[in-house]
Amino acid sequence: MTTRILFVCLGNICRSPTAEGVVRQLAGARPVLVDSCGTSDWHLGEPPCPQMVRAAAARGYDISGLRARQLVAEDFDRFDMIVGMDRENIARIEALRPKGAGTPVRLFTDFAPETGMDHVPDAYYTHDYEGALTLIEACARGLLRHLDGA
Ligand code: 4NP
Repeated sequence: MTTRILFVCLGNICRSPTAEGVVRQLAGARPVLVDSCGTSDWHLGEPPCPQMVRAAAARGYDISGLRARQLVAEDFDRFDMIVGMDRENIARIEALRPKGAGTPVRLFTDFAPETGMDHVPDAYYTHDYEGALTLIEACARGLLRHLDGA
């Protein structure tokens, strides 16, 4: 059965669209459906930031066609797991949880404990797109290992 995973950050133009693109590609033939969104409505309809589009493309990930949308309560029904990039994301996701919804909400970096990171730093502010990509790739591999039951 297909596992539906939603990646969430603040703006949905930097970290979460990158996570979506990387996991989609690294998933290969696995039955995984991925999407991403932001907790804010600041960039609705916008593509990911050009610097991250370029950095991702250089590693073989095409995220240029993605467009920002905002997290809605219905996402708890539509997805099997919701994954935030930092603790602020997690708090805002949990604030939208409908009564009785059991959808697990996880921190992306929890899937890559070997990195020693407890959040994905926001490259929109740090400008460290390469560092964010490297971390997102490690978290993506860890998430896929988790789905594989390893
Ligand atoms: P993201 O990064 O949450 O990784 O998409 C951000 C992008 C834009 C803004 C904040 C974070 N902003 O303030 O516009």
